[in-house]
Amino acid sequence: SVTRHYKFDIRLQNVTRLCHTKSMVTVNGKFPGPRVFAREGDRLVVKVVNHVPNNISIHWHGIRQLRSGWFDGPSYITQCPIQTGQSYVYNFTIVGQRGTLFWHAHISWLRATVYGSLIILPKRNASYPFAKPHKEVPPIIFGEWWNVDPEAVISQALQTGAAPNVSDAYTINGLPGPLYNCSKKATYRLKVKPGKTYLLRLINAALNDELFFSIANHSLTIVEADAVYIKPFKTNVLVLTPGQTTNVLLKTKPHDPNTTFLMLARPYFTGLGTFDNSTVAGILEYENPSTSSSSPPTPLKKRPLLRPKLPPMNSTISTSFVMNFTRKFRSLANAKFPANVPQTVQKRFFFTIGLGSNPCPKNQTCQGPNNSSKFAASVNNVSFILPTTALLQAHFSGRSNGVYTTDFPSSPLRPFNYTGTPPNNTRVSNGTKVVVLQYNTSVELVMQDTSILGAESHPLHLHGFNFFVVGQGFGNFNPNKDPANFNLVDPVERNTVGVPAGGWVAIRFIADNPGVWLMHCHFDVHLSWGLRMAWIVQDGKLPNQKLPPPPSDYPKC
Ligand code: C2O
Repeated sequence: SVTRHYKFDIRLQNVTRLCHTKSMVTVNGKFPGPRVFAREGDRLVVKVVNHVPNNISIHWHGIRQLRSGWFDGPSYITQCPIQTGQSYVYNFTIVGQRGTLFWHAHISWLRATVYGSLIILPKRNASYPFAKPHKEVPPIIFGEWWNVDPEAVISQALQTGAAPNVSDAYTINGLPGPLYNCSKKATYRLKVKPGKTYLLRLINAALNDELFFSIANHSLTIVEADAVYIKPFKTNVLVLTPGQTTNVLLKTKPHDPNTTFLMLARPYFTGLGTFDNSTVAGILEYENPSTSSSSPPTPLKKRPLLRPKLPPMNSTISTSFVMNFTRKFRSLANAKFPANVPQTVQKRFFFTIGLGSNPCPKNQTCQGPNNSSKFAASVNNVSFILPTTALLQAHFSGRSNGVYTTDFPSSPLRPFNYTGTPPNNTRVSNGTKVVVLQYNTSVELVMQDTSILGAESHPLHLHGFNFFVVGQGFGNFNPNKDPANFNLVDPVERNTVGVPAGGWVAIRFIADNPGVWLMHCHFDVHLSWGLRMAWIVQDGKLPNQKLPPPPSDYPKC
Protein backbone atom coordinates (compact mmCIF):
# COMPACT_ATOMS: atom_id res chain seq x y z
CA SER A 1 0.00 0.00 0.00
CA VAL A 2 1.04 3.55 -0.70
CA THR A 3 0.33 7.13 0.40
CA ARG A 4 -1.56 9.25 -2.10
CA HIS A 5 -1.49 13.04 -1.96
CA TYR A 6 -4.20 15.39 -3.18
CA LYS A 7 -4.63 19.13 -2.95
CA PHE A 8 -8.10 20.65 -2.73
CA ASP A 9 -8.14 24.39 -3.36
CA ILE A 10 -11.56 25.63 -2.34
CA ARG A 11 -12.28 28.49 -4.69
CA LEU A 12 -15.04 30.35 -6.46
CA GLN A 13 -15.74 29.51 -10.07
CA ASN A 14 -18.30 30.78 -12.56
CA VAL A 15 -20.46 27.92 -13.82
CA THR A 16 -23.35 28.10 -16.31
CA ARG A 17 -26.30 25.70 -16.38
CA LEU A 18 -29.89 26.19 -17.65
CA CYS A 19 -28.66 29.50 -19.13
CA HIS A 20 -27.88 30.86 -15.65
CA THR A 21 -24.32 31.72 -14.67
CA LYS A 22 -23.36 31.86 -11.03
CA SER A 23 -20.21 32.11 -9.01
CA MET A 24 -20.03 29.06 -6.80
CA VAL A 25 -17.80 27.30 -4.31
CA THR A 26 -15.80 24.49 -5.94
CA VAL A 27 -12.76 22.31 -5.42
CA ASN A 28 -9.98 23.32 -7.85
CA GLY A 29 -12.57 25.12 -10.00
CA LYS A 30 -14.18 21.82 -11.01
CA PHE A 31 -17.84 20.87 -10.93
CA PRO A 32 -18.28 18.10 -9.86
CA GLY A 33 -14.99 18.08 -8.00
CA PRO A 34 -11.91 15.94 -8.71
CA ARG A 35 -11.99 12.16 -8.57
CA VAL A 36 -10.02 10.64 -5.73
CA PHE A 37 -8.45 7.20 -6.30
CA ALA A 38 -6.96 4.79 -3.84
CA ARG A 39 -6.53 1.11 -3.24
CA GLU A 40 -7.69 -0.74 -0.19
CA GLY A 41 -5.01 -0.29 2.47
CA ASP A 42 -3.66 3.01 1.06
CA ARG A 43 -3.27 6.20 3.01
CA LEU A 44 -4.94 9.34 1.66
CA VAL A 45 -3.45 12.73 2.46
CA VAL A 46 -5.62 15.60 1.22
CA LYS A 47 -4.60 19.17 1.88
CA VAL A 48 -7.65 21.43 1.82
CA VAL A 49 -6.97 25.16 1.45
CA ASN A 50 -9.89 27.55 1.85
CA HIS A 51 -9.81 30.56 -0.50
CA VAL A 52 -13.54 31.44 -0.24
CA PRO A 53 -15.48 33.62 2.23
CA ASN A 54 -17.44 30.58 3.54
CA ASN A 55 -16.23 28.25 6.27
CA ILE A 56 -15.84 24.72 5.00
CA SER A 57 -14.99 21.12 5.91
CA ILE A 58 -14.82 17.95 3.80
CA HIS A 59 -16.37 14.59 4.73
CA TRP A 60 -15.18 11.27 3.25
CA HIS A 61 -18.58 9.70 3.10
CA GLY A 62 -18.57 6.01 4.02
CA ILE A 63 -14.90 5.83 4.98
CA ARG A 64 -14.77 4.12 8.35
CA GLN A 65 -12.05 6.38 9.78
CA LEU A 66 -10.89 3.71 12.22
CA ARG A 67 -9.21 5.65 15.03
CA SER A 68 -8.87 8.65 12.72
CA GLY A 69 -12.07 10.49 13.67
CA TRP A 70 -10.31 13.87 13.54
CA PHE A 71 -10.46 13.57 9.75
CA ASP A 72 -14.11 12.53 9.36
CA GLY A 73 -15.14 16.07 8.45
CA PRO A 74 -18.61 17.12 9.69
CA SER A 75 -18.34 20.72 10.93
CA TYR A 76 -18.82 21.19 14.67
CA ILE A 77 -18.92 17.42 15.18
CA THR A 78 -15.39 16.13 14.51
CA GLN A 79 -13.76 19.47 13.70
CA CYS A 80 -14.24 23.19 13.60
CA PRO A 81 -14.64 24.33 9.99
CA ILE A 82 -11.64 25.50 7.97
CA GLN A 83 -11.89 29.29 7.93
CA THR A 84 -11.07 31.62 5.05
CA GLY A 85 -7.32 31.60 4.36
CA GLN A 86 -6.77 28.49 6.52
CA SER A 87 -5.97 24.92 5.59
CA TYR A 88 -6.28 21.44 7.07
CA VAL A 89 -4.68 18.16 6.01
CA TYR A 90 -6.99 15.14 6.09
CA ASN A 91 -4.89 12.06 6.65
CA PHE A 92 -6.38 8.59 6.96
CA THR A 93 -5.94 4.97 5.95
CA ILE A 94 -8.56 2.94 4.09
CA VAL A 95 -8.96 -0.25 6.08
CA GLY A 96 -10.94 -3.22 4.78
CA GLN A 97 -12.99 -1.24 2.25
CA ARG A 98 -13.08 -1.27 -1.53
CA GLY A 99 -15.68 0.06 -3.95
CA THR A 100 -17.33 3.38 -4.69
CA LEU A 101 -17.83 6.14 -2.13
CA PHE A 102 -17.76 9.93 -2.40
CA TRP A 103 -16.60 13.03 -0.62
CA HIS A 104 -18.56 16.22 0.02
CA ALA A 105 -18.55 19.46 1.97
CA HIS A 106 -20.13 18.99 5.40
CA ILE A 107 -21.40 22.38 6.49
CA SER A 108 -24.70 24.08 5.66
CA TRP A 109 -25.62 23.28 2.02
CA LEU A 110 -22.18 23.69 0.48
CA ARG A 111 -22.20 20.10 -0.70
CA ALA A 112 -24.60 21.19 -3.45
CA THR A 113 -21.50 22.24 -5.40
CA VAL A 114 -18.61 20.70 -3.43
CA TYR A 115 -18.59 16.95 -4.06
CA GLY A 116 -16.78 14.29 -6.01
CA SER A 117 -16.23 10.56 -6.28
CA LEU A 118 -13.93 8.39 -4.19
CA ILE A 119 -12.90 5.19 -5.92
CA ILE A 120 -11.27 2.47 -3.88
CA LEU A 121 -9.84 -0.34 -6.00
CA PRO A 122 -9.19 -3.76 -4.49
CA LYS A 123 -5.65 -4.55 -3.36
CA ARG A 124 -3.22 -5.05 -6.22
CA ASN A 125 -3.46 -8.83 -6.49
CA ALA A 126 -7.10 -9.10 -5.41
CA SER A 127 -9.90 -9.62 -7.89
CA TYR A 128 -13.61 -8.81 -7.89
CA PRO A 129 -16.03 -11.54 -6.78
CA PHE A 130 -17.61 -11.26 -10.25
CA ALA A 131 -16.21 -11.66 -13.78
CA LYS A 132 -13.81 -8.90 -14.69
CA PRO A 133 -15.70 -6.22 -16.67
CA HIS A 134 -14.46 -5.16 -20.10
CA LYS A 135 -14.22 -1.59 -18.86
CA GLU A 136 -14.78 0.51 -15.74
CA VAL A 137 -16.75 3.64 -16.52
CA PRO A 138 -15.83 6.84 -14.61
CA PRO A 139 -18.39 7.45 -11.83
CA ILE A 140 -21.90 8.65 -12.61
CA ILE A 141 -22.83 11.17 -9.93
CA PHE A 142 -26.38 12.42 -9.48
CA GLY A 143 -26.73 15.94 -8.11
CA GLU A 144 -29.00 18.97 -7.92
CA TRP A 145 -28.62 22.41 -9.43
CA TRP A 146 -30.11 25.67 -8.18
CA ASN A 147 -29.95 28.74 -10.42
CA VAL A 148 -29.33 30.79 -7.29
CA ASP A 149 -26.85 30.25 -4.47
CA PRO A 150 -28.04 27.20 -2.47
CA GLU A 151 -26.70 28.85 0.69
CA ALA A 152 -29.23 31.63 0.18
CA VAL A 153 -32.01 29.07 -0.34
CA ILE A 154 -31.45 27.35 2.98
CA SER A 155 -30.70 30.46 5.03
CA GLN A 156 -33.90 32.12 3.84
CA ALA A 157 -35.89 28.97 4.60
CA LEU A 158 -34.47 28.73 8.11
CA GLN A 159 -35.37 32.37 8.72
CA THR A 160 -38.98 32.15 7.63
CA GLY A 161 -39.49 28.60 8.86
CA ALA A 162 -40.77 27.60 5.43
CA ALA A 163 -39.65 24.73 3.25
CA PRO A 164 -36.73 25.72 0.99
CA ASN A 165 -37.20 26.07 -2.76
CA VAL A 166 -36.70 22.85 -4.66
CA SER A 167 -33.78 22.70 -7.07
CA ASP A 168 -34.09 23.80 -10.69
CA ALA A 169 -32.62 20.59 -12.11
CA TYR A 170 -31.26 17.19 -11.30
CA THR A 171 -27.90 16.46 -12.85
CA ILE A 172 -25.61 13.63 -13.94
CA ASN A 173 -21.99 14.64 -13.42
CA GLY A 174 -23.20 18.22 -13.13
CA LEU A 175 -25.15 18.08 -16.42
CA PRO A 176 -28.96 18.53 -16.51
CA GLY A 177 -29.45 16.85 -19.88
CA PRO A 178 -31.76 17.38 -22.88
CA LEU A 179 -35.12 17.42 -21.05
CA TYR A 180 -34.28 20.77 -19.47
CA ASN A 181 -34.12 24.16 -21.15
CA CYS A 182 -30.80 25.24 -22.56
CA SER A 183 -29.22 21.89 -21.79
CA LYS A 184 -28.95 19.89 -25.01
CA LYS A 185 -25.19 20.17 -25.00
CA ALA A 186 -24.94 19.76 -21.23
CA THR A 187 -25.75 16.05 -21.46
CA TYR A 188 -23.95 13.08 -19.99
CA ARG A 189 -23.05 10.53 -22.69
CA LEU A 190 -21.81 7.00 -22.25
CA LYS A 191 -20.33 5.39 -25.36
CA VAL A 192 -20.23 1.61 -25.42
CA LYS A 193 -19.37 -1.29 -27.71
CA PRO A 194 -21.77 -4.18 -28.31
CA GLY A 195 -21.40 -7.47 -26.45
CA LYS A 196 -19.34 -6.20 -23.53
CA THR A 197 -19.75 -5.82 -19.78
CA TYR A 198 -19.19 -2.41 -18.20
CA LEU A 199 -18.82 -1.58 -14.53
CA LEU A 200 -20.80 1.54 -13.63
CA ARG A 201 -20.25 3.37 -10.35
CA LEU A 202 -23.35 5.29 -9.29
CA ILE A 203 -23.43 7.93 -6.56
CA ASN A 204 -26.44 9.84 -5.29
CA ALA A 205 -25.05 13.22 -4.25
CA ALA A 206 -28.42 14.98 -4.62
CA LEU A 207 -29.39 17.06 -1.59
CA ASN A 208 -32.99 16.23 -0.98
CA ASP A 209 -34.29 13.37 -3.10
CA GLU A 210 -34.11 9.66 -3.46
CA LEU A 211 -33.84 8.84 -7.13
CA PHE A 212 -35.04 6.16 -9.49
CA PHE A 213 -32.59 5.34 -12.27
CA SER A 214 -33.02 3.27 -15.39
CA ILE A 215 -31.50 2.79 -18.85
CA ALA A 216 -33.91 2.02 -21.70
CA ASN A 217 -33.91 -1.66 -22.76
CA HIS A 218 -30.97 -2.58 -20.55
CA SER A 219 -31.01 -4.32 -17.22
CA LEU A 220 -28.41 -3.70 -14.57
CA THR A 221 -26.81 -6.23 -12.23
CA ILE A 222 -26.10 -4.74 -8.83
CA VAL A 223 -22.87 -6.09 -7.37
CA GLU A 224 -21.93 -3.66 -4.65
CA ALA A 225 -23.62 -1.22 -2.26
CA ASP A 226 -21.87 1.46 -0.19
CA ALA A 227 -18.47 -0.10 -0.99
CA VAL A 228 -19.46 -3.60 0.13
CA TYR A 229 -19.96 -6.49 -2.30
CA ILE A 230 -23.44 -8.01 -2.36
CA LYS A 231 -25.04 -11.08 -3.87
CA PRO A 232 -25.57 -9.89 -7.45
CA PHE A 233 -29.14 -9.32 -8.64
CA LYS A 234 -30.70 -7.95 -11.79
CA THR A 235 -33.04 -5.00 -12.00
CA ASN A 236 -34.42 -2.63 -14.63
CA VAL A 237 -34.90 0.25 -12.22
CA LEU A 238 -32.79 1.04 -9.24
CA VAL A 239 -33.39 3.29 -6.24
CA LEU A 240 -30.61 5.29 -4.69
CA THR A 241 -31.03 7.50 -1.64
CA PRO A 242 -28.78 10.51 -1.10
CA GLY A 243 -25.63 9.16 0.51
CA GLN A 244 -25.89 5.76 -1.13
CA THR A 245 -23.44 4.51 -3.74
CA THR A 246 -23.60 1.36 -5.82
CA ASN A 247 -21.69 -0.55 -8.48
CA VAL A 248 -23.62 -2.20 -11.29
CA LEU A 249 -22.73 -4.26 -14.33
CA LEU A 250 -24.17 -3.22 -17.65
CA LYS A 251 -24.14 -5.87 -20.36
CA THR A 252 -24.49 -4.32 -23.78
CA LYS A 253 -26.51 -5.78 -26.65
CA PRO A 254 -24.69 -8.50 -28.62
CA HIS A 255 -24.93 -6.51 -31.87
CA ASP A 256 -25.07 -2.84 -32.61
CA PRO A 257 -28.76 -1.98 -32.04
CA ASN A 258 -28.81 1.10 -34.30
CA THR A 259 -30.67 2.86 -31.50
CA THR A 260 -29.75 5.36 -28.83
CA PHE A 261 -30.96 4.78 -25.28
CA LEU A 262 -31.90 7.35 -22.71
CA MET A 263 -30.93 6.88 -19.09
CA LEU A 264 -33.22 8.72 -16.71
CA ALA A 265 -33.20 9.64 -13.05
CA ARG A 266 -35.99 11.35 -11.17
CA PRO A 267 -37.22 11.62 -7.57
CA TYR A 268 -39.24 9.06 -5.66
CA PHE A 269 -40.76 11.69 -3.40
CA THR A 270 -40.22 15.33 -4.11
CA GLY A 271 -39.72 15.78 -0.39
CA LEU A 272 -41.82 18.80 0.32
CA GLY A 273 -45.09 18.01 -1.34
CA THR A 274 -44.53 20.22 -4.38
CA PHE A 275 -45.07 18.16 -7.47
CA ASP A 276 -41.91 18.47 -9.47
CA ASN A 277 -41.68 16.74 -12.80
CA SER A 278 -37.95 17.12 -13.19
CA THR A 279 -36.00 14.35 -14.81
CA VAL A 280 -32.34 14.26 -15.65
CA ALA A 281 -31.47 12.38 -18.81
CA GLY A 282 -28.21 10.99 -20.09
CA ILE A 283 -27.51 9.08 -23.27
CA LEU A 284 -26.20 5.56 -23.82
CA GLU A 285 -24.98 5.21 -27.36
CA TYR A 286 -23.27 2.42 -29.23
CA GLU A 287 -20.15 3.44 -31.06
CA ASN A 288 -20.44 2.98 -34.78
CA PRO A 289 -19.60 -0.66 -35.41
CA SER A 290 -16.57 -1.68 -37.39
CA THR A 291 -16.86 -2.14 -41.18
CA SER A 292 -17.14 -5.92 -40.74
CA SER A 293 -20.85 -5.47 -39.94
CA SER A 294 -23.11 -6.56 -42.82
CA SER A 295 -25.65 -3.69 -42.92
CA PRO A 296 -24.38 -0.10 -42.94
CA PRO A 297 -24.77 1.61 -39.54
CA THR A 298 -27.26 4.41 -38.98
CA PRO A 299 -25.38 7.61 -38.18
CA LEU A 300 -25.58 8.40 -34.43
CA LYS A 301 -27.67 11.53 -34.96
CA LYS A 302 -30.37 9.73 -36.94
CA ARG A 303 -30.91 6.82 -34.59
CA PRO A 304 -34.23 6.47 -32.80
CA LEU A 305 -34.18 7.35 -29.10
CA LEU A 306 -35.66 4.93 -26.58
CA ARG A 307 -36.91 6.02 -23.15
CA PRO A 308 -37.00 3.82 -20.03
CA LYS A 309 -40.07 3.57 -17.81
CA LEU A 310 -39.73 4.76 -14.23
CA PRO A 311 -42.10 4.22 -11.28
CA PRO A 312 -44.43 7.17 -10.61
CA MET A 313 -43.44 9.97 -8.24
CA ASN A 314 -45.11 10.55 -4.85
CA SER A 315 -47.07 7.34 -5.15
CA THR A 316 -47.78 4.37 -2.90
CA ILE A 317 -47.09 2.09 -5.87
CA SER A 318 -43.53 3.30 -5.71
CA THR A 319 -43.37 2.83 -1.96
CA SER A 320 -43.96 -0.90 -2.30
CA PHE A 321 -41.57 -0.97 -5.27
CA VAL A 322 -38.87 0.60 -3.09
CA MET A 323 -39.50 -1.83 -0.22
CA ASN A 324 -39.31 -4.84 -2.56
CA PHE A 325 -36.19 -3.48 -4.17
CA THR A 326 -34.34 -2.84 -0.89
CA ARG A 327 -35.25 -6.31 0.39
CA LYS A 328 -33.25 -7.88 -2.44
CA PHE A 329 -29.93 -6.67 -1.04
CA ARG A 330 -27.95 -9.44 0.66
CA SER A 331 -24.36 -9.66 1.84
CA LEU A 332 -22.12 -12.11 0.01
CA ALA A 333 -21.59 -13.85 3.36
CA ASN A 334 -19.07 -16.35 2.04
CA ALA A 335 -15.67 -17.53 3.29
CA LYS A 336 -13.80 -14.73 1.53
CA PHE A 337 -16.29 -11.99 2.34
CA PRO A 338 -18.00 -13.04 5.57
CA ALA A 339 -20.86 -11.05 7.08
CA ASN A 340 -19.91 -10.48 10.70
CA VAL A 341 -23.45 -9.78 11.86
CA PRO A 342 -23.67 -9.20 15.62
CA GLN A 343 -25.63 -12.22 16.88
CA THR A 344 -26.22 -10.82 20.35
CA VAL A 345 -27.17 -7.30 21.40
CA GLN A 346 -25.98 -5.36 24.44
CA LYS A 347 -27.81 -2.08 23.85
CA ARG A 348 -31.16 -1.62 22.14
CA PHE A 349 -32.47 1.71 20.93
CA PHE A 350 -35.75 2.78 19.36
CA PHE A 351 -35.57 6.10 17.50
CA THR A 352 -38.42 7.93 15.83
CA ILE A 353 -37.35 9.79 12.72
CA GLY A 354 -39.44 12.59 11.37
CA LEU A 355 -40.55 16.14 10.88
CA GLY A 356 -42.03 18.52 13.42
CA SER A 357 -42.06 22.17 14.28
CA ASN A 358 -40.66 24.90 16.49
CA PRO A 359 -42.79 27.81 17.72
CA CYS A 360 -42.50 31.06 15.80
CA PRO A 361 -40.46 33.67 17.67
CA LYS A 362 -42.48 36.71 18.85
CA ASN A 363 -42.65 39.68 16.45
CA GLN A 364 -41.87 37.40 13.49
CA THR A 365 -44.19 35.82 10.95
CA CYS A 366 -43.41 32.23 10.14
CA GLN A 367 -44.40 30.18 7.11
CA GLY A 368 -43.87 26.69 8.50
CA PRO A 369 -46.43 23.93 9.23
CA ASN A 370 -49.83 24.97 10.62
CA ASN A 371 -49.16 28.47 9.21
CA SER A 372 -47.44 29.91 12.24
CA SER A 373 -44.46 27.80 13.15
CA LYS A 374 -41.06 26.84 11.84
CA PHE A 375 -40.27 23.51 10.27
CA ALA A 376 -38.04 21.32 12.39
CA ALA A 377 -37.03 17.67 12.30
CA SER A 378 -35.99 15.34 15.07
CA VAL A 379 -34.80 11.99 16.33
CA ASN A 380 -36.92 10.87 19.32
CA ASN A 381 -38.45 14.34 19.26
CA VAL A 382 -35.07 15.95 19.88
CA SER A 383 -33.96 18.43 17.24
CA PHE A 384 -30.16 18.58 17.30
CA ILE A 385 -28.57 22.00 17.72
CA LEU A 386 -25.00 22.27 16.40
CA PRO A 387 -22.54 23.37 19.10
CA THR A 388 -20.14 26.25 18.46
CA THR A 389 -17.09 24.08 19.00
CA ALA A 390 -16.27 20.54 17.86
CA LEU A 391 -17.93 17.77 19.88
CA LEU A 392 -14.97 15.46 19.34
CA GLN A 393 -12.55 17.98 20.77
CA ALA A 394 -14.81 18.61 23.78
CA HIS A 395 -15.11 14.89 24.38
CA PHE A 396 -11.39 14.20 23.90
CA SER A 397 -10.32 16.93 26.29
CA GLY A 398 -13.01 15.96 28.82
CA ARG A 399 -14.74 19.35 28.59
CA SER A 400 -18.32 18.55 27.67
CA ASN A 401 -19.76 21.26 29.93
CA GLY A 402 -21.83 23.69 27.92
CA VAL A 403 -21.09 21.82 24.67
CA TYR A 404 -23.27 18.71 24.85
CA THR A 405 -25.31 16.61 27.27
CA THR A 406 -25.37 12.82 27.47
CA ASP A 407 -29.11 12.46 28.04
CA PHE A 408 -30.22 11.58 24.53
CA PRO A 409 -33.46 9.62 25.05
CA SER A 410 -33.21 5.91 24.15
CA SER A 411 -36.89 5.97 23.12
CA PRO A 412 -39.22 8.77 21.90
CA LEU A 413 -40.15 11.61 24.24
CA ARG A 414 -43.67 11.52 22.81
CA PRO A 415 -44.67 8.02 21.69
CA PHE A 416 -47.82 7.58 19.66
CA ASN A 417 -49.27 5.36 16.99
CA TYR A 418 -46.96 6.19 14.09
CA THR A 419 -49.38 5.07 11.43
CA GLY A 420 -52.61 6.38 12.95
CA THR A 421 -53.92 9.94 13.03
CA PRO A 422 -51.01 12.34 13.36
CA PRO A 423 -50.86 14.14 16.72
CA ASN A 424 -51.70 17.84 16.86
CA ASN A 425 -48.60 18.49 18.91
CA THR A 426 -45.70 18.43 16.44
CA ARG A 427 -43.32 20.38 18.68
CA VAL A 428 -39.74 19.22 18.97
CA SER A 429 -37.36 19.72 21.89
CA ASN A 430 -34.05 21.37 21.02
CA GLY A 431 -30.69 20.27 22.36
CA THR A 432 -27.20 18.94 21.72
CA LYS A 433 -27.74 15.47 23.14
CA VAL A 434 -25.54 12.44 22.54
CA VAL A 435 -25.56 8.73 23.37
CA VAL A 436 -22.42 7.40 25.05
CA LEU A 437 -21.39 3.85 24.19
CA GLN A 438 -18.66 1.77 25.73
CA TYR A 439 -16.03 0.47 23.35
CA ASN A 440 -17.16 -2.68 21.50
CA THR A 441 -20.82 -2.44 22.51
CA SER A 442 -23.10 -4.45 20.25
CA VAL A 443 -25.92 -2.09 19.26
CA GLU A 444 -29.35 -2.69 17.77
CA LEU A 445 -31.24 0.35 16.57
CA VAL A 446 -34.80 0.39 15.26
CA MET A 447 -35.75 3.54 13.37
CA GLN A 448 -39.44 4.28 12.94
CA ASP A 449 -40.73 6.85 10.46
CA THR A 450 -43.26 9.05 12.25
CA SER A 451 -45.04 10.44 9.19
CA ILE A 452 -46.22 13.36 11.32
CA LEU A 453 -46.31 15.80 8.42
CA GLY A 454 -46.98 13.44 5.54
CA ALA A 455 -45.29 10.22 4.52
CA GLU A 456 -41.74 10.35 3.32
CA SER A 457 -38.71 8.17 3.69
CA HIS A 458 -35.53 9.33 5.38
CA PRO A 459 -32.09 8.16 4.26
CA LEU A 460 -30.26 7.74 7.56
CA HIS A 461 -26.47 7.88 7.37
CA LEU A 462 -24.12 6.79 10.14
CA HIS A 463 -20.58 8.13 10.24
CA GLY A 464 -17.66 5.92 11.32
CA PHE A 465 -19.39 2.56 10.80
CA ASN A 466 -21.05 0.21 8.43
CA PHE A 467 -24.15 -1.44 9.84
CA PHE A 468 -26.19 -4.49 8.95
CA VAL A 469 -29.81 -3.96 7.91
CA VAL A 470 -31.40 -6.87 9.78
CA GLY A 471 -35.06 -6.04 9.26
CA GLN A 472 -37.61 -3.64 7.83
CA GLY A 473 -41.35 -3.37 7.47
CA PHE A 474 -44.39 -1.16 7.14
CA GLY A 475 -46.52 0.04 10.04
CA ASN A 476 -45.47 0.19 13.68
CA PHE A 477 -42.45 -1.83 14.73
CA ASN A 478 -43.57 -4.62 17.05
CA PRO A 479 -40.79 -5.48 19.53
CA ASN A 480 -42.52 -8.75 20.46
CA LYS A 481 -43.00 -10.06 16.94
CA ASP A 482 -40.73 -8.44 14.38
CA PRO A 483 -37.28 -9.46 15.76
CA ALA A 484 -38.16 -13.12 15.14
CA ASN A 485 -37.93 -12.38 11.41
CA PHE A 486 -34.61 -10.54 11.50
CA ASN A 487 -32.00 -11.73 9.02
CA LEU A 488 -28.84 -12.46 11.02
CA VAL A 489 -27.25 -14.56 8.26
CA ASP A 490 -26.69 -12.39 5.18
CA PRO A 491 -28.19 -8.92 5.76
CA VAL A 492 -26.77 -6.13 3.61
CA GLU A 493 -23.99 -4.05 5.14
CA ARG A 494 -24.04 -0.34 4.36
CA ASN A 495 -23.64 3.19 5.70
CA THR A 496 -26.93 4.75 4.56
CA VAL A 497 -30.39 3.19 4.76
CA GLY A 498 -33.82 4.48 3.81
CA VAL A 499 -36.23 4.47 6.75
CA PRO A 500 -39.33 3.55 4.76
CA ALA A 501 -42.24 5.98 4.55
CA GLY A 502 -44.79 4.73 7.09
CA GLY A 503 -42.48 1.97 8.28
CA TRP A 504 -39.35 1.03 10.19
CA VAL A 505 -35.89 -0.41 9.70
CA ALA A 506 -33.63 -2.27 12.16
CA ILE A 507 -29.82 -2.12 12.04
CA ARG A 508 -26.99 -3.63 14.06
CA PHE A 509 -23.38 -2.55 14.50
CA ILE A 510 -20.45 -2.98 16.85
CA ALA A 511 -19.16 0.25 18.41
CA ASP A 512 -15.51 -0.57 17.72
CA ASN A 513 -14.41 2.89 16.58
CA PRO A 514 -13.63 5.36 19.38
CA GLY A 515 -14.71 8.95 18.68
CA VAL A 516 -17.80 11.05 18.04
CA TRP A 517 -19.99 9.90 15.19
CA LEU A 518 -22.79 11.83 13.60
CA MET A 519 -25.94 10.07 12.44
CA HIS A 520 -28.38 12.03 10.32
CA CYS A 521 -30.89 12.17 7.54
CA HIS A 522 -28.98 12.65 4.28
CA PHE A 523 -31.68 15.00 2.97
CA ASP A 524 -29.93 18.30 3.62
CA VAL A 525 -33.20 20.05 4.33
CA HIS A 526 -33.96 17.61 7.17
CA LEU A 527 -30.36 17.80 8.36
CA SER A 528 -30.66 21.58 8.55
CA TRP A 529 -33.90 21.21 10.51
CA GLY A 530 -32.14 19.11 13.14
CA LEU A 531 -32.64 15.50 12.04
CA ARG A 532 -29.29 14.41 13.44
CA MET A 533 -27.72 13.09 16.64
CA ALA A 534 -24.31 11.85 17.69
CA TRP A 535 -22.86 8.73 19.27
CA ILE A 536 -19.81 8.97 21.48
CA VAL A 537 -17.80 5.76 21.50
CA GLN A 538 -15.36 5.64 24.38
CA ASP A 539 -11.79 4.40 24.12
CA GLY A 540 -11.14 0.73 24.80
CA LYS A 541 -8.52 -0.46 27.27
CA LEU A 542 -5.79 -1.53 24.84
CA PRO A 543 -3.54 1.03 23.08
CA ASN A 544 -4.94 0.09 19.67
CA GLN A 545 -8.46 0.79 20.93
CA LYS A 546 -7.85 4.45 21.67
CA LEU A 547 -8.25 7.57 19.58
CA PRO A 548 -4.84 9.27 19.15
CA PRO A 549 -4.59 13.05 19.78
CA PRO A 550 -5.58 15.58 17.05
CA PRO A 551 -3.04 16.78 14.46
CA SER A 552 -1.22 20.08 14.97
CA ASP A 553 -3.13 21.88 12.19
CA TYR A 554 -6.54 20.88 13.63
CA PRO A 555 -8.81 23.92 12.93
CA LYS A 556 -9.90 26.22 15.72
CA CYS A 557 -13.38 27.68 16.02
CU1 C2O B 1 -22.58 12.18 3.43
CU2 C2O B 1 -22.80 13.35 7.29
O1 C2O B 1 -22.71 12.81 5.36
